Amino acid sequence: MNRGLFGFLGPVQPRSHSLRDVQRAVKDGVSTPRLRLRPPALADLPHIRRYAVREAFYRYMDMEKPTPEGIGKYLESAMATWRRRRPAELVFAIEPGDVGRIVGLIRIRIDEDDDRAASVGFHLDSDFQGRGYATEALREIVRIGFAHSGVARIWAEVDTRNTQSCALLERAGFRREKRMDGHRSIRGTVTDWYLYAVDRPRSR
Ligand SMILES: CC(C)(COP(=O)(O)OP(=O)(O)OC[C@H]1O[C@@H](n2cnc3c(N)ncnc32)[C@H](O)[C@@H]1OP(=O)(O)O)[C@@H](O)C(=O)NCCC(=O)NCCS
Repeated sequence: MNRGLFGFLGPVQPRSHSLRDVQRAVKDGVSTPRLRLRPPALADLPHIRRYAVREAFYRYMDMEKPTPEGIGKYLESAMATWRRRRPAELVFAIEPGDVGRIVGLIRIRIDEDDDRAASVGFHLDSDFQGRGYATEALREIVRIGFAHSGVARIWAEVDTRNTQSCALLERAGFRREKRMDGHRSIRGTVTDWYLYAVDRPRSR
């Protein structure tokens, strides 16, 4: 099951497949022109607690409204992904240099049943949307995912109503592969979802 990012309020589960080489390559994080993508830290908690309770955050996610306790537990499990010897998932805090604090999270997770595929999930504090931060972060996660792991394909599932997320995936090079009608129930409403994916670039 994919649960978006935060998909959230269950702890990150250890799995057999691993992003160990990604973890080694970017163990203290990685920089893009405007962002630092780094392991999350306890100091991020008050910021996440502030934005994750807004409806804009969880509207299209398969979850109840987050509670402060649930957010705390999630952050602990996201931090723990960086301490595992063979992590199946890595969660990065998105921190713009000129903001100086977390504005969102992005994760990559190896599929449970197929170590040639990984999924991504992401969100931004609604105060920091519309600046291209998520595009910059997602492009970098896709780049390091292909560069430092054996995955051949990276995918994401999105509620069809989540036009911002669809646009983001398309800007980052994902193609819409299929529509999955009635794929998931979100707080009691049956919803249709798209599957997006991007393949490992061919070497030249
Ligand atoms: C999905 C989500 C991260 C997208 O956020 P976003 O702000 O639209 O994405 P970006 O940060 O890439 O910003 C893109 C916007 O900034 C604009 N922009 C400004 N400067 C830009 C730049 N340098 N590069 C790219 N875009 C830029 C783009 O034109 C675009 O604006 P538009 O939506 O008016 O066309 C956000 O909607 C979110 O957190 N939603 C809630 C959680 C969620 O649903 N997650 C996905 C679950 S599948």
